[in-house]
Amino acid sequence: MDKYVMRLPATERALPPPASGSRPTRVELFAGAGGMAVGLEAAGFEHVALIERDRNCVHTLRQNGFGKCVKLKDAPRCVGTNVSLRAVCCARRPTCHLCACRFRAPASMRQPTLRACLGHADVPIPRAEDGTLEVWDLFCCGGGFSTGAKRAGCTVVYACDAWPDALETYKRNHPQTHTECLELPAPIPFPTDGRPFHVHGSPPCQRFTVMGKRYNTESGVETATNLLKWFLDTAVTCGATSWSMEQVSSAETRAIVEAVRKRHPTRVASATIDFYELGVPQHRKRLICGSPALVAHLLRACSAERRRSIRDAIAKPRGTMVRNSDSWTRARLRHDRRPGQSKYAYTKATADDKLHPLSGPAPTILTNGDVRWWWRDRDGESKISVMSARELALLQTFPRNYKLPDSTKLAHKLVGNAVPPLVAELLLRADGPRPVGRG
Ligand SMILES: C[S@@+](CC[C@H](N)C(=O)[O-])C[C@H]1O[C@@H](n2cnc3c(N)ncnc32)[C@H](O)[C@@H]1O
Repeated sequence: MDKYVMRLPATERALPPPASGSRPTRVELFAGAGGMAVGLEAAGFEHVALIERDRNCVHTLRQNGFGKCVKLKDAPRCVGTNVSLRAVCCARRPTCHLCACRFRAPASMRQPTLRACLGHADVPIPRAEDGTLEVWDLFCCGGGFSTGAKRAGCTVVYACDAWPDALETYKRNHPQTHTECLELPAPIPFPTDGRPFHVHGSPPCQRFTVMGKRYNTESGVETATNLLKWFLDTAVTCGATSWSMEQVSSAETRAIVEAVRKRHPTRVASATIDFYELGVPQHRKRLICGSPALVAHLLRACSAERRRSIRDAIAKPRGTMVRNSDSWTRARLRHDRRPGQSKYAYTKATADDKLHPLSGPAPTILTNGDVRWWWRDRDGESKISVMSARELALLQTFPRNYKLPDSTKLAHKLVGNAVPPLVAELLLRADGPRPVGRG
């Protein structure tokens, strides 16, 4: 502590007197990577000095625009020559290349988009003057994302997918959108006249799920990986003013996204979000990637107050509980497992296992697993009935009047594959997500 106390007087001498009528000024000790600084700057404060001894934090501060990074002993000189002094590095050792010393943080340590990731208020997503935004929906399937985009006031101008049956349903619900049955990767006729537009993509994710991994072939994984890489590269280089992607959150997918983020640090952010926190009445954890300000919108929208239950979504439930189709239950065997020992014991699930109360979220709606109503009849027998595609669509936040295909199997697939429209809506609303209560 003495170390800091001894160093502070030098910094105090370096502070310029506040000009009358100017914004309130502040000095922050132990500034860290700048979370507080970003927030207070948004609230109108001007930073005179951010004091931090950790070299990586100072790097982050500097790369997020908090002025020139100097060693403390240089501070008075910088202020005296009217250089904007906002980040002060107090490290004992020479720290960063920015102050002409030897240390240079490796790329993996740098966090150049902190401000953008926090969704700083002055990072607007460009839109047309009337507030609409063109959306291009790649891998559109039955139209979950497009439905939410429209509810957010956007115009979905183009959608493509390789699955003709999915496109049929898409067209019935979005007749104004230009659709194309297209096997991607393929050239897409993106606008080149400089107008704002948003690109969304949900490349197929089954190969990255736990279930999908059981049936993976090497070529299947390679195709899925290439498609994911292709979409990410396309999204950040096609001229779109913003972009988004929904994907299964696994070590592989996160690593692919991280590699792209390193190449385009100001254009890529990602977060794993349980959509239950956004008001989708089911647990659905997904990786959301996209323009940093949009990802930040969505993160800020997450709140316990937004949560909705099965009963909130389905006014007339046909059971007293909900159950998914898992046929196994697992119990933890040991906590001090040695290599080769199993962690869990699996037993066949009975009809009374894996029950979810109606006052909470449903299990994840999947494309290849059904969700069932459960109740006890008068004789105390457990009864189950498979949820209809319409009920599943409500749990995925589709509107009640969304046109589903006649084939139940196909409808289940389209609904289970979809991005919940509510998530797309919260992501793309021009004014940010509506406060809870009106949402
Ligand atoms: C996760 S779903 C998309 C969900 C959609 N965004 C929604 O919100 O409803 C993935 C879609 O990618 C499509 N797809 C898979 N491989 C494709 C390819 N090579 N070219 C085009 N579409 C493909 C599938 O047909 C499927 O409809």
